[in-house]
Amino acid sequence: MRPTQELLAAMTLEEKAAICAGLNMWMTKGFEQHGIPALQMYDGTNGIRKTNSNEEMGITGENIPATCYPTGSAIGSSWNTDLLQELGVALGVEGREMEVDLLLGPGINMKRTPLGGRNFEYYSEDPFLTGELGAALINGLQSQGVGASLKHFAGNNQEFEKIVTSSEIDERTLREIYLAAFERIVKKANPWTIMCSYNLLNGSYTSENEHLLNDILREEWGYEGVVISDWTAVNDRIRGLAAGLDLEMPGPAYYNTKAIVKAVQEGKLDEAVVDKSAGRIIELVRKVKEANVESAPANVDYHELARRAAAESIVLLKNDNSILPLDSEKMSKMAVIGTFAKQPRIQGAGSARVTPTRVDIPWDELKNIVGDKVDLVYADGYPQDDRINEQMIQESAALAASADVAVLFVGQPEYVESEMHDLETIELPLHQQKLIKAVTEVQPHCIVVTSSGSALAMNSWIQYVPGVLHSWLTGQGSGKAIADILFGHVNPSGKLSETFPVKLSDNPAHMRIRGENGKLYYREGLSIGYRYYDRKELAPQFPFGHGLSYTTFAYSDLKAVQQGEHVNVAFFVENTGTMFGKEVVQLYIHDEECSWNRPQKELKAFTKIALAPGEKQQVHFVLEERDFAYYNTKYNKWVAETGYFQIVIGSSSRDIRLRERIHCDFGLEPISFHKFSLLNDWINTPKAKTIFEAYLAEMNKHVSEQVILDDVFIGFWGDFPAIKIFQMFGQTWLIDRSPDDVIAEMIAEFERQ
Ligand code: BGC
Repeated sequence: MRPTQELLAAMTLEEKAAICAGLNMWMTKGFEQHGIPALQMYDGTNGIRKTNSNEEMGITGENIPATCYPTGSAIGSSWNTDLLQELGVALGVEGREMEVDLLLGPGINMKRTPLGGRNFEYYSEDPFLTGELGAALINGLQSQGVGASLKHFAGNNQEFEKIVTSSEIDERTLREIYLAAFERIVKKANPWTIMCSYNLLNGSYTSENEHLLNDILREEWGYEGVVISDWTAVNDRIRGLAAGLDLEMPGPAYYNTKAIVKAVQEGKLDEAVVDKSAGRIIELVRKVKEANVESAPANVDYHELARRAAAESIVLLKNDNSILPLDSEKMSKMAVIGTFAKQPRIQGAGSARVTPTRVDIPWDELKNIVGDKVDLVYADGYPQDDRINEQMIQESAALAASADVAVLFVGQPEYVESEMHDLETIELPLHQQKLIKAVTEVQPHCIVVTSSGSALAMNSWIQYVPGVLHSWLTGQGSGKAIADILFGHVNPSGKLSETFPVKLSDNPAHMRIRGENGKLYYREGLSIGYRYYDRKELAPQFPFGHGLSYTTFAYSDLKAVQQGEHVNVAFFVENTGTMFGKEVVQLYIHDEECSWNRPQKELKAFTKIALAPGEKQQVHFVLEERDFAYYNTKYNKWVAETGYFQIVIGSSSRDIRLRERIHCDFGLEPISFHKFSLLNDWINTPKAKTIFEAYLAEMNKHVSEQVILDDVFIGFWGDFPAIKIFQMFGQTWLIDRSPDDVIAEMIAEFERQ
């Protein structure tokens, strides 16, 4: 392709406007006369959903078969960045085989409430975990010459009336929670495209939101890739283009091409703005078509990878008296109950739904494992609809009673977890709750395998059940992964990427999951997920980061030291059990003395390590200033205050194994003062304190009541703006000058020095 500037110079205004919208549902427009080829893009978030034709949306029907991997919440629970990178590479290789130039994923929005209809697509309630996993996937994908489309930017955390609802999120919460994963991924993986969301953010559609697209994404983060609209998310094309929304999808959107041309001709839109977006799209085409593809792994066994990914994602929630793993030598009959054992739920519905190449069935995989040694018996357990069927329950209980052990496959029904609508409950359907109770009454050796893409409430039945395995929606390999974990062929190593509350109403966003009159206020602010349960001292059913193993791990010898701009952390983890296993170690920061409110704990590092029995390994983390910072809206800046922090090491967010107190000083000085900066602001910064003291000394020469800057004075007046001190005590000094003049001089002096 010719250089972009040359191409732009050769193209007409109409052509440049036209390239800013797609050709059809899934393609960009190509311009043969200029040697610009078209690109093809397809969903999605847990595999490739390539439709049979580029003119169709193909949401409900079957599409071209592709590997169906674990959905976002499942893979989020793997906490394994190497695996995500490997998945990205595999998606890239399969994508190239299927002629996919851009993959419309991953989806990384935060899980504000477990009712979010697309929660199954998203990784976590924590921005750091999400950011690390998303970056790894994208780095893998793009290494194969297939671009990512990071979505949905931003504030799309529920489905209810999303297209007409403004997510009202305060700036600090936005930066620390809802944008943080996007920022991390933009900086670590540079996704070739970013997809804006449908919703409004603080009153302006994200597809035309200057603050979001221009100030933050482009200016602050330095993003130079293409911003794509979600499908039909464009409302005012001219405003959108001006704000930096490059590509409208789907196309052809002739009406908007005309509108752009007209706006330029009438002087309402600068042609340079059109050139910018057209130029970025041309650059994207170049990136894809001239990609330097890193050597592709030969013969990727996609299905094997799907199985491995599923096995890393499944979480062992409860394992009383080590009921798991099962031992086929120690049983003669096993009851398998529940339709999901034969028709597993492997994914959610909507644009992310992949037509799988094949599907492992748990029942078949269990049979493969036990062979003839164990008599496997089966009952459906519950009907496909909501009705309670006592007969099915009784038959299942009788079957369970006749066996040595019963494994129940339950979960959210297929139709409830989907794009476009939110869930109504996080309880299992009533018939499944009744089934569990009936079975556990006659069979104490009972294991429940749950399937859902979001947190489940379990308090009505979990006390009766010794073993619970949460299998999420783990894609086409889940059947074998579940069977392998049940029988200990694989040691479970997934950890919850979101909190499982005792009940739905415990969730901090519960009062406000639905917008009213077009506005949805995120009033819980920073208190999302574990941040809220920590602050509220509320015990969840299972905390963020929880997941059991068939072996045990001991943590020891934590050391944390600041060395210049970094804090180096090291400690040991040892496998003290009898089985090979993987442990996800989690590092949280606790800020002991921040002047602003902060969550009790914030995840800042993690890794997944594999250890043989008796093996001990040292884990190292290197933290940076930003890991200790919060977003200070006074200075519009990330601020790490000098003072004491705790480095908190856990096997989950509530199973804390090690803790070390450390004093950190990153040499922070507030960067600006204003008219109403507080006395505390002035005296907490050495340079500013000297200035303030000089002015105070000057004042004291002209007043009768002397102001002495001691603890008593500061204790009383500290939160008073410095200007008011002069107004209160310096009236006889301020003859020719006002308090405003004094502060202005002080600020000028601070900035000069
Ligand atoms: C979804 C996107 C998806 C697009 C194309 C939209 O409805 O929100 O996530 O990529 O459709 O299918």
